[in-house]
Amino acid sequence: MAEIFITRKVFQDAIDILDKEGHTIDINDTDRILPASELVNRAHGKAGLVCLLNDRIDSWVMDELTSIKVISNIAVGYDNIDIAGATERGIMVTNTPGVLTETTADLAFAMLLGAARRIPEADQYTRAGKFKNWQLMQPHMGVDIYEKTLGIVGMGAIGQAVAKRAKKGFDMRIIYYGPSKKESAEKEYEAEFVEFDELVATSDFISIHVPLTEKTKHMFSTQEFKDMKSTAILINTARGPVVDEAALVEAIKHGRIRGAALDVFEEEPSIYPELINLKQNVVLTPHIGSASIETRLRMAKMAARNMVEGLKGNRPPNLINEDVSPHRSRPT
Ligand code: DGY
Repeated sequence: MAEIFITRKVFQDAIDILDKEGHTIDINDTDRILPASELVNRAHGKAGLVCLLNDRIDSWVMDELTSIKVISNIAVGYDNIDIAGATERGIMVTNTPGVLTETTADLAFAMLLGAARRIPEADQYTRAGKFKNWQLMQPHMGVDIYEKTLGIVGMGAIGQAVAKRAKKGFDMRIIYYGPSKKESAEKEYEAEFVEFDELVATSDFISIHVPLTEKTKHMFSTQEFKDMKSTAILINTARGPVVDEAALVEAIKHGRIRGAALDVFEEEPSIYPELINLKQNVVLTPHIGSASIETRLRMAKMAARNMVEGLKGNRPPNLINEDVSPHRSRPT
């Protein structure tokens, strides 16, 4: 039996999993992100911390939380947590991989379709009562998707799920770039590994599926936008800082690329102001990649199960820092 702090409102089913084990739960049962000092106060003395991707868990936070043994992030991405710092302090960190793969790929593809066919603009136009007659020279003509070239940056699970949709549904040519070749994607979706520069220069659509690291920060900036096709559309459902938003705005404004579909932003929840003003061929959504009811529930339950195992001193199923000893108690 241990005390756990949950930083935000979650599904009751996830709380029930923790309850059943006899743990005592304190929860910030609101949608408000707690400032770090408040998070530290609330989590102080607890053994478990269940958090979201917008809770920053830096080493100074962990230094304050000397009793924390397990941090369970309800997200697959974990750039919000200092993993090396956690390992050093003997804290297990877990995430929620797999369960959101297909849902996030659905969204990435929806974003691609939305930007290519200008669906949000057409929706606004219709709602504004501007649909007076069918015109050959329709004001919202978009571009075709089928048989075009899709460049996937990061052919991990989500990248491959996007490739599946593109190949099987739209007969697209798939090229990809990443740290390693993926034979399964090459076999199943005829995906071709190319160097990053080639992907940038030859794709009609580019979909980003890499984690945020020092290496991937601003992977797409002024030079990449210059090198892209002027008809290309960039889709980002991974992490905002992979794209240099100021450079992206300049590129779209000056017609260096056609458009973009962004579900994630550099300074969430703030949006680079000029992005908001770019309406043509640009689709913006509030980080909803995994936001289906089923998937968010699966994520929350998975995070609760990770916590239960970690607090038992077992190796949680989705332990990120494998090099931490699950049986090592935290130095205080
Ligand atoms: C994740 O889990 O990292 C996703 O960004 C959530 O949508």
